[in-house]
Amino acid sequence: MTFTEPLLSVVDLTMTFPGRRRSAPVRAVDGVTFHVAAGETLGLVGESGCGKSTTGRMIVRLLEPTAGSVTYDGRDISHLSQRELKPLRQDLQMVFQDPHSSLNPRQTVARIISDPLLVQGGSAADARKRVAELMELVGLIPEHIDRYPHEFSGGQAQRIGIARALATGPRLVVADEPVSALDVSVQAQIVNLMDRLQRELGLAYLFIAHDLSVVKRVCDRVAVMYLGRIVEIGPKERVYAAPAHPYTRALLSAVPLPDPAAERARERITLHGDLPSPAAPPPGCAFHPRCPKAQEVCRTGTPALRRMEPGAARQVACHFPEAA
Ligand SMILES: Nc1ncnc2c1ncn2[C@@H]1O[C@H](COP(=O)(O)OP(=O)(O)O)[C@@H](O)[C@H]1O
Ligand code: SF4
Ligand SMILES: [Mg+2]
Repeated sequence: MTFTEPLLSVVDLTMTFPGRRRSAPVRAVDGVTFHVAAGETLGLVGESGCGKSTTGRMIVRLLEPTAGSVTYDGRDISHLSQRELKPLRQDLQMVFQDPHSSLNPRQTVARIISDPLLVQGGSAADARKRVAELMELVGLIPEHIDRYPHEFSGGQAQRIGIARALATGPRLVVADEPVSALDVSVQAQIVNLMDRLQRELGLAYLFIAHDLSVVKRVCDRVAVMYLGRIVEIGPKERVYAAPAHPYTRALLSAVPLPDPAAERARERITLHGDLPSPAAPPPGCAFHPRCPKAQEVCRTGTPALRRMEPGAARQVACHFPEAA
């Protein structure tokens, strides 16, 4: 295996939002570290409110981190100004959860998709030609170039969002729950499209989802977040086959299995209680109030994210991880 510098490195990334009125500050993301290589997909998974979007928005610098760093292609971009970020925008793009609300209803597809090209200083005629190519690439009919977003279904609208993200030829796309708002029947089509585009264009993805089943097809590695922290990260095959963190096990046990016999036989772990507020995280291991394996030490000692064994690709933050 040849060693390559990661395309993206996130180290101790932290976002603390000031609390409203007199409430405590919200530590939405709390010391997150991971790397994404060129052409690789990292799945980022966890319940709603665990800090996935905030992490994604810091990486594309829609938000400025309060601590830690985002290094893209060897350059620390954590605190660059909007002007300094402009040339990087063509490399770093984002696809949003709700395709319709992320597209301007008063703009045609031509305008929406060409916008990032014109911002980078392209000509209008070239941009229109490129938009037609992009529409074809994402499975839209190029003749629909002058239509408005409401004339498209949810799945088609997300294809427009993907075409817009690809317009400038990015190397890294942060996809924030790109299929969560779509009908189940359409979800697989969009996941397959993104998978194909990645292979054809050599893209790297940070693919965010609240459900482990969604990222299984596309990701090479997967990271599981709980209350602002990564609790488990590793190669997809290992994490799905033998989850080491009790939270990963619970998330996986909620994913239906296609084989009815296997579905009946498998262990199901129900998580009790809601995700605690990141403004008042439980002491020790933040998962302890909901963890079926919690011991006394879990109430006081915060488990660090550690390698399962020296040199292992998988890291887990638990005092009592399942053996790999
Ligand atoms: N702009 C903001 N101001 C205050 N709190 C925020 C803001 N954005 C997100 N949060 C809080 O940060 C936490 C993480 O949110 P988010 O990153 O959107 O989670 P996810 O994408 O995993 O659902 C939540 O508790 C959310 O309420
Ligand atoms: S550290 Fe303890 S409470 Fe936290 S996940 Fe592991 S066993 Fe459960
Ligand atoms: Mg989100």
